[in-house]
Amino acid sequence: MAPDDSKAPVRPSIRPMELDDLPQVLEIERRSFPTPWSEKAFRGELTVNAYAYYIVAETDGRVVGYAGMWVIMDEAHVTNIAVHPDYRRSGVGRRLLEALIERAADRGCDRMTLEVRKSNHAAQQLYLSFDFVPRGIRRGYYTDTNEDAIVMWKYRLQRWRRERGGRDRRDAVPGP
Ligand SMILES: CC(C)(COP(=O)(O)OP(=O)(O)OC[C@H]1O[C@@H](n2cnc3c(N)ncnc32)[C@H](O)[C@@H]1OP(=O)(O)O)[C@@H](O)C(=O)NCCC(=O)NCCS
Repeated sequence: MAPDDSKAPVRPSIRPMELDDLPQVLEIERRSFPTPWSEKAFRGELTVNAYAYYIVAETDGRVVGYAGMWVIMDEAHVTNIAVHPDYRRSGVGRRLLEALIERAADRGCDRMTLEVRKSNHAAQQLYLSFDFVPRGIRRGYYTDTNEDAIVMWKYRLQRWRRERGGRDRRDAVPGP
């Protein structure tokens, strides 16, 4: 069994991403992905793409993680989620994903999908813990390494939200 390298929990506040966050977001992006998104790509998401919704996790005035999705009809597609390496295993990723699902449900979505690298066990564990289920493989989806993507889905977001019963509405994500 892998050693438990969990750290003391961090309880970040969650809010919509703003253009001013981009320097910190890009730093995390570069430290998290082999082929990071450019500033232009993030700018486009925040200013042009009407389907896009991005949040950041902030603690002590510092952005420590972010996540985003596209919301199309009743379906949400997670585009990105990353936590600063210094803050991993502290519950920040869990909090971001929870907030994203909550916001997708608020917007009328009932299912959510994402792609994850076959080798990315940390992210897969996170998604499994939210009852995402693997539903397919996209061969060679990641063109930088030619790695396969596992396609995962979470269903019944509306029920998930009802069952949580509006638990701790202080955590509700403000936003457009
Ligand atoms: C995936 C990622 C966002 C997780 O963020 P995090 O803040 O470390 O996650 P959390 O501390 O909230 O952990 C939540 C759960 O995820 C799983 N998990 C997270 N990191 C893990 C690891 N290194 N190994 C195994 N499971 C892990 C565990 O189930 C964990 O629950 P637990 O702590 O109760 O065991 C983070 O590792 C990251 O930014 N990775 C690089 C970017 C990336 O791969 N993004 C996903 C793209 S698909």
